[in-house]
Amino acid sequence: CRVQQWDSEEPVPRAELLAAVAGKRGLLCLLSDRIDREVLEAAGPGLKVISTMSVGFDHLALDEIKKRGIRVGYTPDVLTDATAELTVALLLAVCRRLPEAVEQVKNGGWTTWKPLWMCGYGLSGSTVGIIGLGRIGQAVARRLKPFGVKKFLYTGSQPKPESAAEFEAEFVPLTRLAEESDFVVVTCALTPATQGMCNKDLFSRMKNTSVFVNTSRGAVVNQEDLYDALAHGRIAAAGLDVTTPEPLPTDHPLLSLKNCVILPHVGSATYATRSTMAVLAANNLLAGLQGQPMPHELLL
Ligand code: NDP
Ligand code: DGY
Repeated sequence: CRVQQWDSEEPVPRAELLAAVAGKRGLLCLLSDRIDREVLEAAGPGLKVISTMSVGFDHLALDEIKKRGIRVGYTPDVLTDATAELTVALLLAVCRRLPEAVEQVKNGGWTTWKPLWMCGYGLSGSTVGIIGLGRIGQAVARRLKPFGVKKFLYTGSQPKPESAAEFEAEFVPLTRLAEESDFVVVTCALTPATQGMCNKDLFSRMKNTSVFVNTSRGAVVNQEDLYDALAHGRIAAAGLDVTTPEPLPTDHPLLSLKNCVILPHVGSATYATRSTMAVLAANNLLAGLQGQPMPHELLL
């Protein structure tokens, strides 16, 4: 293959992408590259394969891609463990208030041991609600179970008895999941149905002692509604690995809240995982260009 590469960790500027994609047969992209009609038209009819170095594919205009008969590769499975690990780390950091506690040590707020100071919420005996019991959702449940979680609830487009059996998880409507969970963990894909799904209605149904964690995509959450819920104590705390937009402006109101921990989309960020994702994305692309079965093709 002859390869034209944007050789930088920074996203390729849109104009560069539009110019460079012209006439190409394959495109390897990142989740920060919006591959829409404009890009596909700039590429022209020769584009046969798109390989994204991500499991999420909400940045790809699938209807336009399908119309043009272009094949798509993506990177499921290889990042499941890393993302589930980060989800658990974020959940624990939020519910046990770790960033706040570290700050107290540094700023002299730690004066002595006090019975109720820096108290949070624990997992033992809790109910955990998982929105989207897919690969990552199941891997999160598998890791949380040994903490002594009493009950798992989940939502999705349909019940998944085989996946849920390992955790004896119960399929429930979103409203019941919100009302009964001590921890609400979002691990679904971003689709038209999930966009803005975590909104005022969901937060108002949650207990005021409950913790909300999102490691899926920022647009699943209505951030104004989340801010209101956190600022007015309608829920206890939140942890977000994903936001709208990314990066979140440093003066965003959510960043002013002590009970909100925000990470810069680092779910899959281990050296080993990112390396495996890159190799898989390259192999998907090569297989697609050769007309072979891809290691992981997204069936459109
Ligand atoms: P899966 O396809 O295995 O899981 C996605 C889940 O979303 C499915 O279980 C699906 O359930 C569920 N879902 C779809 N529609 C709804 C709905 N309306 N309500 C509730 N759940 C729904 O994908 P993965 O687990 O591999 O990845 C999930 C997402 O995580 C990715 O799409 C990506 O956006 C995000 N991600 C984020 C990372 C990060 O760095 N923070 C890293 C990796 C992934 P059903 O089958 O019932 O439709
Ligand atoms: C994905 O793959 O979709 C994540 O968001 C980053 O690894």
